[in-house]
Amino acid sequence: MKTAIIFHSANPNGNTRRLMEAANETLGAEVYMLDDYNVTPYDYEGRNLDDDYFPLWRELLGYDHLVFASPVYWYAVTGPMKIFFDRFVDLMEKGDDGDMGRRLRGKTASIIATGYSPEVNDSFLDMIVESVKYLGMSYESILYACCEDTFDERAASADIQKYIAHVRAISVSE
Ligand SMILES: Cc1cc2nc3c(=O)[nH]c(=O)nc-3n(C[C@H](O)[C@H](O)[C@H](O)COP(=O)(O)O)c2cc1C
Repeated sequence: MKTAIIFHSANPNGNTRRLMEAANETLGAEVYMLDDYNVTPYDYEGRNLDDDYFPLWRELLGYDHLVFASPVYWYAVTGPMKIFFDRFVDLMEKGDDGDMGRRLRGKTASIIATGYSPEVNDSFLDMIVESVKYLGMSYESILYACCEDTFDERAASADIQKYIAHVRAISVSE
């Protein structure tokens, strides 16, 4: 199973990056940093369709499992990650006449996140889970680390192993 991680944090070397990399040592997924792409806010008139969004998706559509990696900022994903989600409308309506949206069906998705709350906020989780389901993907799992200060890999180690086992089980069952 080919896996891609779509990552954004205001701190490119912060807690979320460290959690993602700890998991990815075993997962071996390709990482796409949203900061490396010019993905502009959704436009009803489609005046931005020549930015990096469709070229990025032409690569992402080659993967079976997509991981969304973001810290929790105000009960939600980061601004650039939210823009990435808003633009799903373009995939459904405009990308290859909507075929890009259709090609998401049957793919699987999971989440990697950090925050200071002991448990991930429902609003953060719901936004991602409901969006990927709407697109016909199946939501599989979340790896969440509570970071009161800095990320503690040892404290997160059991959750990282559990998440990896879950993602690997998807590849076995497909
Ligand atoms: C702007 C901002 C908003 C935040 N909002 C939340 C929040 O709503 N819930 C939460 O649990 N943590 C919140 N946090 C804490 C971060 O999610 C936490 O420190 C996270 O590990 C930071 O990851 P990063 O180093 O990748 O940015 C917030 C932090 C910032 C900077």
